[in-house]
Amino acid sequence: MRKRLNTTYYLVIFALGIFMLVIIGYYVYDSSVQEKEGFIEADAPIPLEEIENRIENGVHVQTGLVDGEGLNLVIANCTACHSAQLVTQNKADKEGWKNMIVWMQQTQNLWDLGDQEEKILNYLAKYYAPEQAASATFRRPPLKDIEWYDLTEQ
Ligand code: HEC
Repeated sequence: MRKRLNTTYYLVIFALGIFMLVIIGYYVYDSSVQEKEGFIEADAPIPLEEIENRIENGVHVQTGLVDGEGLNLVIANCTACHSAQLVTQNKADKEGWKNMIVWMQQTQNLWDLGDQEEKILNYLAKYYAPEQAASATFRRPPLKDIEWYDLTEQ
């Protein structure tokens, strides 16, 4: 009788142990996935006083964003969930940026930007505008002043 009680006791402890390992494992796994994907679920802007302000050669060192009017608003609101690289590697006109913001508000829980939205859009449309068509392509320029010659059969 005593022996059986002991076995049950060990089994319960064992099961609890496995259970705890699974829970801990899940959390470790989950946070590492989030880290790898580079997205976190923020629900508010980064407080302005927490932003590091060092600017070098016209670029905000910590984020790589261009220094200009509205920079701090963009850092506070646009780097809370993902890296600023997602911003710096994109280009769009004001309407395009507005669409991206609306899309994030509808699908990624981006908050209402209130009257800061206009300033943020102006910053983005000014410093991350689409480039001129010619410089955006990687083709060589068309050849000019070519002296064509006739192919003749030999
Ligand atoms: C609440 C979180 C959150 C905030 C704040 C946020 N974003 Fe995003 N954003 C996301 C997520 C999540 C993705 C990526 C979704 C995906 O790729 O599946 C994303 C993607 C993007 C992309 C890439 C879009 C594409 O087509 O690939 C750009 C550009 C972007 N965000 C710009 C901004 C700007 C500008 C702001 C500030 C106004 C901002 N984000 C603020 C969550 C956020």
